[in-house]
Amino acid sequence: MKPTHKLLFVLCSMLVLGFMYYSSGKLHLFVWGQKSQTNAEFTTTSTTTSTYTTTRTATTKRPDVKPIAARDKHITEMENDINAGRIVDSVYDKQGFLLQLDIKLPPELMYKYGNLSEGACKPGYAAAKMSTIYPKFVKPAPMFLDRNFKRLGKVNNYLPPFGFKTQERVIDGILMETKYYGLGDKLDSLTCKRCIIVGNGGILANKSLGSKIDGYDVVVRLNEAPVSGYSKDVGTKTTMRITYPEGAIQKPENYEKGSLFVFSAFKPLDFKWLRHMVFKEKLRGVEGFWKSVAHAVPREASEMRILNPYFIQEAAFQFIGLPFNNGVMGKGNIPTLGTVAITMALHNCDEVAVAGFGYDMSMPHAPLHYYETVKMSAIKESWTHNISKEKEFLRKLVKANVITDLTRGI
Ligand SMILES: *[C@@H]1O[C@H](CO)[C@@H](O)[C@H](O)[C@H]1NC(C)=O
Ligand SMILES: *[C@@H]1O[C@H](CO)[C@@H](O)[C@H](O)[C@H]1NC(C)=O
Ligand SMILES: *[C@@H]1O[C@H](CO)[C@@H](O)[C@H](O)[C@H]1NC(C)=O
Repeated sequence: MKPTHKLLFVLCSMLVLGFMYYSSGKLHLFVWGQKSQTNAEFTTTSTTTSTYTTTRTATTKRPDVKPIAARDKHITEMENDINAGRIVDSVYDKQGFLLQLDIKLPPELMYKYGNLSEGACKPGYAAAKMSTIYPKFVKPAPMFLDRNFKRLGKVNNYLPPFGFKTQERVIDGILMETKYYGLGDKLDSLTCKRCIIVGNGGILANKSLGSKIDGYDVVVRLNEAPVSGYSKDVGTKTTMRITYPEGAIQKPENYEKGSLFVFSAFKPLDFKWLRHMVFKEKLRGVEGFWKSVAHAVPREASEMRILNPYFIQEAAFQFIGLPFNNGVMGKGNIPTLGTVAITMALHNCDEVAVAGFGYDMSMPHAPLHYYETVKMSAIKESWTHNISKEKEFLRKLVKANVITDLTRGI
């Protein structure tokens, strides 16, 4: 061989050998990488609390109790799913709720709650449950507007009912007068609050739930639903009554002492009405309301609050999935007050219960409200609400045990 040929031969062999070594290393690294990833998943099963854990649990049924071979097969299938980006689509519904709702809490919370004495209030329970089925949930959202309300970024760009845009000055004036923005010292200082939202449904009648309802720390009632004369079924305690002008109690003697008058605005005109109520001004001209409104609210300004409009926005667009309509009120995109109250409670209560919710359309002769003789059949197709879509959302909450439905109407 000529020296040049010799050199070429050596160079070629080195290149071939080098390439073989390189590619085998790659191959080895690749296989090893896959394996170690799989192992890591097993060892972190009990400590990860991220959405990943819930996602995985939802697609594979507890792989750690299966035989090794089946386990590996499952993992491989799952990894293929993740790689194909299919997981997210198949596990969550359009609103972002997990399709499989019977998901357990993260182990550390199970442990924490398991250690509490029987029947004790579980701190953070409703929000934790909500987060397991709806990972987008962010808990902090104040119940009521305070003097810093303009900092609430999610609502200051929307008109009522989804925000307070154009009403800033009126609201500022009202809040300067009311001066208080919480539930009161006693309730605000509780480390664990149990709340119940009492709906107005006929399903509450004759169930003798009154004393059970009174046992909650916070009892929320809606609009003009009476207590007097119905206390055996609905209780006597009212922490707050959430109301809009057309729904407010009209007879001054029917307002219960010691409860907060919580105002929820659905249209800009509603804030004007509230200003009159707070400043005890005579109401002149009531055009623009869809039915007669109260002319006076026998409450001190210090007993009045403005509900954070974020709960209307979040319930409508995120939880229920009503038409966005450029963020303004339109056909079928306003949640009912009951669902708004539940949304508020998810952000501000540790445990949430409801009673008197749900209509059973298969019983047209059952009463619509617990305090009236109007029949269910009187309910008309609503322009503003979408009862069936709303019920789908409430069903998810009940099914996942985020809320407890005492009357089982949802
Ligand atoms: C739960 O109870 C056990 C046994 O009494 C105790 O050892 C543990 O520290 C408790 N854990 C918490 C989080 O309180
Ligand atoms: C509740 O009981 C009363 C008295 O027994 C009865 O008159 C009324 O119709 C009942 N209401 C409902 C909704 O069942
Ligand atoms: C309620 O929502 C459903 C499903 O999106 C829709 O088909 C129906 O028309 C809506 N009803 C009203 C009253 O907007």
